[in-house]
Amino acid sequence: MDKLIVSGPTKLSGKVEVSSAKNASLPIMAATILYPGKVEFKNLPGLTDIKFFVQILESLGCTHSNGLIDASTVNNTVAEYDLVRKMRASVLVLGPLLSRFKKAKVSLPGGCAIGTRPVDIHLKAMEELGATIDISGGYINASCEKLIGADIHLSFPSVGATENIMMAACFAEGETVIKNAACEPEIVDHANFLNACGFEITGAGSSTIKVQGKELSSFDASKTVEYSIIGDRIEAATYIIAGLMTDSEIEVQNFDPSHIEAVLDVLKTMGAKLEVTARGVKVFASGKLAGAKVETGPHPGFPTDVQAQLMSLMGVSSGYSIVSERIFENRFMHVPELVRMGMEIDLDGSYAFIKGNNDLSPAPVMCTDLRASAALILSALVAKGETTIARIYHLDRGYEKIEQKLQSLGAKIKRVKE
Ligand code: EPZ
Repeated sequence: MDKLIVSGPTKLSGKVEVSSAKNASLPIMAATILYPGKVEFKNLPGLTDIKFFVQILESLGCTHSNGLIDASTVNNTVAEYDLVRKMRASVLVLGPLLSRFKKAKVSLPGGCAIGTRPVDIHLKAMEELGATIDISGGYINASCEKLIGADIHLSFPSVGATENIMMAACFAEGETVIKNAACEPEIVDHANFLNACGFEITGAGSSTIKVQGKELSSFDASKTVEYSIIGDRIEAATYIIAGLMTDSEIEVQNFDPSHIEAVLDVLKTMGAKLEVTARGVKVFASGKLAGAKVETGPHPGFPTDVQAQLMSLMGVSSGYSIVSERIFENRFMHVPELVRMGMEIDLDGSYAFIKGNNDLSPAPVMCTDLRASAALILSALVAKGETTIARIYHLDRGYEKIEQKLQSLGAKIKRVKE
């Protein structure tokens, strides 16, 4: 398994472009199942999660080459366990398969490091649309005569459930209204893609989304849909924090800064000098920042996917900070690794108490999940010496060419094969 070797402390400089968003790419790739024609993506990110999703689409009968996906050849509605277990976002094939083929058999995704991550909200909504759901042998068996549009109120603004329901509603009869829907920018991009395919979705980005069901038999899929996916706001936030941790001046580009307003607000409160530009955010050397009190929440709240990275910054800021993780039940696995590097962090349930001003020292550390991995790299950029980071396959799921991008900013980081 590959490792990263990072030498610190280091200063960064220059510009870095983020890739397109993993968490928009995955639901949009699932949505190609609804379109019995060709879709050409201009900028799919080079991530292992994307490769996994291509494998799932191909197992269903889609063809794929260089970003061109053709779902006219889908002939299988079973998403097998050995593929689904690699990535829980695979559950997003449930809605489109059920909508277009009136049946789907999808392995239960299972939990992951950050939590049990159930799909009860997804399944309850599918039943409200008229599907019969049976769970047996670790699989979700879904079927229907036809799906009927319904008013659906989500008990929690689940991102994945919102996406699955939008897709299921596309070939349902009549209108579906999703209330308490997730508002993340990735939901908006997903809806924009569906509309580019000829579907009719309004309200994405707000907590009430409406879908006008289409008739599959008369649906026109003759044109090749071309689509470019939004920039990755989480990757962008990660590089912005890298600039602040190393007291550097860098520019992070190719994303919409309005997608991370909550992050920029917290960083400015901590004393960060940031400037929003036409293509992203410019970071100015801001010296030692102050601590903060942050609670993660559904968009437009502070994104849970930036929580670990922010904690690394808090560990080298002055004063105390408090982080409350309100989305996932086990998303503090980066803490023991950060403590090994010299941070003083106490945990109590969903709260983390961070004592700032820590001088970080290198230590052999291990990635546990995608965003925790990024937090370790950020800390290694500041630690005095050489840090070895193991199990970086977690990183490769969501950060394209991270060592090349950091090297281009002047970081001393290299990947070594074990
Ligand atoms: C998406 O996961 C993202 N993944 C996650 O990013 C992100 O952290 C999360 O949204 C929250 O923003 C993708 O988009 C592929 P949820 P998702 O459904 O859809 C509970 C990353 O690092 N819940 O909004 O799985 C669930 O257990 C990843 O890029 C239910 O209880 O998130 C969790 O506690 C990590 N029942 C909370 O809701 C359900 O049926 C949020 O889950 C569904 C969810």
